[in-house]
Amino acid sequence: MLNILTLGDDVLRKKCATIAIFDKKLEDLAVAMIDSMHANDGIGLAGPQVGVEKRLFVCHVPDDEPRIFINPDIIGTSQETLPYEEGCLSIPGVYSDVVRPKSITLQAWTLEGKPFKMEAEGLLARVIQHEMDHLKGVLFIDHLSEKKRQRVVSLYEKRQSKVS
Ligand code: NI
Repeated sequence: MLNILTLGDDVLRKKCATIAIFDKKLEDLAVAMIDSMHANDGIGLAGPQVGVEKRLFVCHVPDDEPRIFINPDIIGTSQETLPYEEGCLSIPGVYSDVVRPKSITLQAWTLEGKPFKMEAEGLLARVIQHEMDHLKGVLFIDHLSEKKRQRVVSLYEKRQSKVS
């Protein structure tokens, strides 16, 4: 199982590199990421969260199959935005509303190096946007007001000190 990095780790703040080689190693990584996401009851997991500064993420929302996105880019977003309560496996135990576009159009590559385009809405659109942020070193708490962010982070730190 892959180790999931948590808030405070520098890798979570790195801008990820484009993937150029589509090989068995990449496939093994993506499969391990899906396993780790499932093991932690997550619905999305991005490269930097497992210490890999590369542009890939996986997600699996209810009533859907596990999905793998290599070198993804959001190429369109709806005007309409929505608040939705987000959490993150790298900031476990805390949640907060984040406002994002309701639907998106995404372009990415498969594990086989084939480009594809897709539209997403609902929870899938939400997770994709959250994971895309990870590839730029952005966390969901960065979307909150300063005051709200401080509250969420201090709650997280309190929870962590209780756990360890
Ligand atoms: Ni996250």
